[in-house]
Amino acid sequence: MKVRLKDCTIEYQDRGEGAPLLLIHGYPLSRKQWDPQIDGLSGAARVIAPDLRGFGGSEAVAGDYTMEMLADDCHALLEGLDILQPVVVGGLSMGGYVTFAFYRKYPEWVAGLILAATRPGPDADPAKAKRDEAAALAQKGGSAAIAESMLPKMLSPKTYQNNPGLVGRVREIMESASVEGIRGALMGMKNRPDSTPLLEEIQKPVLVLHGADDQLIPPQEAEATHAKIKGSRLQILPDSGHLLCLEQPHLFNQAVREFLSTVES
Ligand code: MLT
Repeated sequence: MKVRLKDCTIEYQDRGEGAPLLLIHGYPLSRKQWDPQIDGLSGAARVIAPDLRGFGGSEAVAGDYTMEMLADDCHALLEGLDILQPVVVGGLSMGGYVTFAFYRKYPEWVAGLILAATRPGPDADPAKAKRDEAAALAQKGGSAAIAESMLPKMLSPKTYQNNPGLVGRVREIMESASVEGIRGALMGMKNRPDSTPLLEEIQKPVLVLHGADDQLIPPQEAEATHAKIKGSRLQILPDSGHLLCLEQPHLFNQAVREFLSTVES
């Protein structure tokens, strides 16, 4: 399905019935990273999964994509769907940065938060420099070059060994990103604010999910996030890297299902 927002057209999936669950994908991915959740959780919730601007089937608008802008897109999508109740917002990695921005701007829209493979802190200077290098690489070699450079870091060693089909699928998803989207998201992530001070202010139920073998964001960071959010739950999934929702779909969905039941009650 597609919807026209203020300055761009967004493609999204909306499946299932019940309390809404908004799932925000990571970089440089698309809503397709949530295929096992759309299939596995739509019996328990109304799963809404957008392609962020510049990714998947959504329009690639030129410019820097701040996390606030991406959160605004998600909020406008919910409004367009006439969702009138607070939603559980779940984001993976960059989707988590967007989730923090969403909570900052629209706390009254949030019933609970799922923070998957993400971190609250901003980019330090070396990470900012890497964003510029990646933007130059995308300009030169397109999304294929970005996929080539990122693929070895996205998954657990076990996944590379045992699940070549999934490795190929992740490459395909990354290659579907547009160069404008890659650049826009890189600049938005480079300049994102520090969400660490927000953690102690969060008043909603929070589930922190992380892969034990995440090479991009070490699980210790999830432990630190969990320690700062009062009443939060933490689950570290075995044999999964950065893309735990694809690598351990059953464990991921089970954790989310259990969490949703506590949010509803
Ligand atoms: C992601 O998976 O969304 C990105 O790796 C996050 C980042 O580059 O900071």
